[in-house]
Amino acid sequence: MRRCVFAVAVLLLPVAGRFAASAEPMLGQPPLGLKPLTIPADNPLTADKVELGKQLYFDKRLSRDDTISCASCHDPKKGWSNGEAFATGVRGQVGGRSAPTIINAAYSDMQFWDGRALALEGQALGPIQNPIEMDMSLDEVVAKLNKLDGYRAAFRKVFNTDVTSEGIAKAIASFERTVLSGDAPYDRFKAGDKTALSEQAQRGMKVFFGKGQCSSCHTGHSFSDFSFHNVGVGMEKEKPDPGRFEVTKVLGDKGGFKTATLREISRTAPYMHDGRFKTLPEVVDYYDKGGFNNPQLDESIFALKLTTQEKADLVAFLTEGLTSTSYPDIAPPKLP
Ligand code: HEC
Ligand code: HEC
Repeated sequence: MRRCVFAVAVLLLPVAGRFAASAEPMLGQPPLGLKPLTIPADNPLTADKVELGKQLYFDKRLSRDDTISCASCHDPKKGWSNGEAFATGVRGQVGGRSAPTIINAAYSDMQFWDGRALALEGQALGPIQNPIEMDMSLDEVVAKLNKLDGYRAAFRKVFNTDVTSEGIAKAIASFERTVLSGDAPYDRFKAGDKTALSEQAQRGMKVFFGKGQCSSCHTGHSFSDFSFHNVGVGMEKEKPDPGRFEVTKVLGDKGGFKTATLREISRTAPYMHDGRFKTLPEVVDYYDKGGFNNPQLDESIFALKLTTQEKADLVAFLTEGLTSTSYPDIAPPKLP
């Protein structure tokens, strides 16, 4: 009996070592199941830059009335989203789309539901200047931060300049590259640990990759093809959000939105670009019925005719399989 326990302990040691390592990942080292990051040559990832980016990310002084930070709408406590259908910016102004999680946004070549921004560096200054989000001009925010000794010193150290908008964008983007989620039960199952997923979640996984059609779009290491599809959401409205069409002006892109990552999906309700669904069973029911028919509806969206059991299994896979124990629960830092 004793020998048996010993053997198990020896077998588990390398595994335990790997999990310990992934709980405290090295900078730029993605957790199990995720691909290596692509880091732009002109913005290398360094610990000091990530720390500076973290401060900027959590600092409400980047907004006009010191009330809103990036974390107000992309809150680590709320799956790096905001738990609401729409996002509320300065002076209580409410936007027309939900705040996506920024988990694994580092892997997306196009940012926003409609892909109108490219790299994270190109995205970061958008919300600062958006009049209904943080409402600052770049000159104003740069002047405001240059008055704070702590930021001036940090920018000197990291970029060898005063505070600049380019530096703000690079630092925030670097911080976002550390907000990663992998190492979920699904990844461990795939890596060979057949006990990592319950029987029900394993059945749900089969529905996900088979009859449910989900993996035609939610594919790859972050469960997104990072491309745009019309799944019918919002198309029942008289004036639907044009989505990707607004960027490309290509008719086929009408009502197209970026495929959302499904990692940590149990933490990021409500769902869809307009936050219409509060729960995953509601989302699954929507797909099961084949979405709202419209001329641009993607060909993978049709009535799936899933059984009650298959729907429940699918939800079990999404919640149990894709929720990581090494979730990036990053606490707000001390600000300069
Ligand atoms: C007032 C709420 C609000 C604030 C503040 C805000 N965001 Fe967002 N963010 C949103 C919304 C809403 C979207 C989606 C908008 C769209 O797609 O049209 C978004 C989209 C994004 C995306 C794209 C994610 C993806 O998967 O496409 C990133 C990255 C992001 N924000 C980072 C930031 C950063 C960095 C800051 C701070 C500088 C910030 N946000 C401040 C609400 C906010
Ligand atoms: C044709 C491509 C496609 C297929 C097939 C597809 N999805 Fe999606 N999925 C998307 C797109 C695009 C969005 C964003 C849609 C929007 O907000 O309008 C999305 C959004 C979601 C969301 C909400 C994510 C969030 O953060 O708000 C969930 C959950 C989801 N899909 C699960 C599934 C499941 C489960 C299946 C299979 C039954 C599936 N999807 C099939 C493309 C697809």
